Amino acid sequence: MYYPDELVEEVRAKSDIVDVISGYVRIQKKGSSYFGLCPFHNEKSPSFSVSPGKQMYYCFGCGAGGNVFTFVMNYENFTFPEAIKLLAERAGVNLPEIEYSEEIKQKENKRAKLLEINKEAAKYFYYQLRCDKGAAGYRYLSKRELSDETIKKFGLGFANKTSDDLTRYLKKKGYSDELLKEAGLASFEERFGMHDKFWNRVMFPIQDINHRVIGFGGRVMGDGTPKYLNSPETPVFDKSRNLYGLNFARTARKNNMILCEGYMDVIAMHQAGFDQATASLGTAFTPGQANLLRRYTEEVLLAYDSDGAGVKAALRAIAILKESGLTGKVIDLTPYKDPDEFIKNLGKEAFQERIDHAENSFFFEIRILERDFQMDDPESKTKFHREIAKRLCGFTEEVERENYIGAIAEKYHIGFENLRKLVVSYAAKTGLAKPVERPKSGIQKKNTPEDNAKKVQRLFITWITDEPSLYQKVEKYISAQDFTEDLYREVADKLFCSLREGGYNPAAIISSFEGEEEQREAAALFNTKLEAIETKQDREKAFHDILYAVKKNSYDYYSKRMGTDVEALNKVIEGKKALEELSKTHISID
Ligand code: GTP
Ligand code: MN
Repeated sequence: MYYPDELVEEVRAKSDIVDVISGYVRIQKKGSSYFGLCPFHNEKSPSFSVSPGKQMYYCFGCGAGGNVFTFVMNYENFTFPEAIKLLAERAGVNLPEIEYSEEIKQKENKRAKLLEINKEAAKYFYYQLRCDKGAAGYRYLSKRELSDETIKKFGLGFANKTSDDLTRYLKKKGYSDELLKEAGLASFEERFGMHDKFWNRVMFPIQDINHRVIGFGGRVMGDGTPKYLNSPETPVFDKSRNLYGLNFARTARKNNMILCEGYMDVIAMHQAGFDQATASLGTAFTPGQANLLRRYTEEVLLAYDSDGAGVKAALRAIAILKESGLTGKVIDLTPYKDPDEFIKNLGKEAFQERIDHAENSFFFEIRILERDFQMDDPESKTKFHREIAKRLCGFTEEVERENYIGAIAEKYHIGFENLRKLVVSYAAKTGLAKPVERPKSGIQKKNTPEDNAKKVQRLFITWITDEPSLYQKVEKYISAQDFTEDLYREVADKLFCSLREGGYNPAAIISSFEGEEEQREAAALFNTKLEAIETKQDREKAFHDILYAVKKNSYDYYSKRMGTDVEALNKVIEGKKALEELSKTHISID
């Protein structure tokens, strides 16, 4: 941790998790917790819970979980220092500047400097566009029918013809050559010395979701090459985890997002009122970007160029969307090349119509596939049908698969039963499309012994966090050592320690883990789903069973290790005694 634990804890304690999360997600009280739609995965019924008692959130659907810090980090794409800053400010806690470790300090410092210099450069370009020297840029943008309002909203600017004016400007402001180079704003060459990277181009600042400028795209004003020059990746510019326009699109309140290829396309769509439009950053769409979109929507409409390259890119994007659990649809832009040209020629009403009629991504894939076959040749046609069957096997849910078989059979005039048989035979040959096994709730019989051991340990920790007063009653039977997973043991140790000292603070325990994965797992430990058990008698039995199972697992675990571990013998003797005692003891729950 970069700040002293007490300070981290102070900020956490003053940031009520229900308050903070309600600012981002609509949640409703249900019993002792709040529930809402999970912002971290795509769902239709709420499985995202926020517990005021534990000061934690947990999603029973995707397993996302943690305390108020983890939430802000994940939601805002923040580092820990950024998250604590936001929350400290909100809670009115002053953070000192000094507690970073040297390495972290340098890293954060570098990031802050890069963001700062990018902002300065964006301001400079913005100003240049409005000077005499920027007239050409301004004319270009006007010719492309961008309004002043749009130019301002996207902070568009101009890099003039002078080849080192930005460099000189930034150096005068005190920024070093090193930083200029690292930010990708300037480079050094023997012949010219330090000179600007962007020169005689209209400039598109690229912003992250929090409106901070992280890089630039610069376009030539005619037919020169390269058409676009983009900033290189830097510590603040990760092209695979940001999307152009997302800073505006995230608050668009439409029930979809539009994904396209070009900056100009995003801007044209926003100007026409389609403010849910975003684009990747001159590189192919990535799973990281799909995850980003998934926070805001369930459905992504692709508005890729209608040419061959665009179709190919769309097919790849569809696969990535599917992988992330997002629904993909494809907007037909013909006869125009891209959304910008479409809107310019046919207007926004026509574009809205294309949105309303966006094509199901599977239909799109099959339609594109069809081009490779000759329907008047029975052999080619059969191959086409086989290929369809193969792809239909990709739907693991039976109802969905049947629906698609029906729809495709009708669309391509294939007999429903024939297509179905083809799918079944393909599935049988390759072992695909087996019926999905649905896990039953509760302690499961089908699970491996390891799964069950972990599950009872999680159940125990959740139960104790829900009813901390029980700890006193079981303290003599159980210790952190009985938890056979490293992370579980660490959590149990911290939890039991704080309970013995009369404190109880699961959310603080989360903070003590540095890695996101660990924080998530620790959160899962505190939030295992306990089945609602009606009678007190049954509850007591269930709790006793769980405690006994944890102890028995520990006993077995150490029994196996007696030969190699000196401590094991002690644990085995102690465990045997505890198990005997437990089998005769009734533990009452009040
Ligand atoms: P306009 O031609 O101005 O309408 O741009 P566009 O947005 O339609 O661009 P296009 O569809 O040609 O390209 C889509 C995206 O690919 C652009 O927004 C850039 O991010 C990127 N791109 C295009 N051309 C180049 C290039 O020459 N070099 C690099 N690095 N990226 C490019
Ligand atoms: Mn274009």
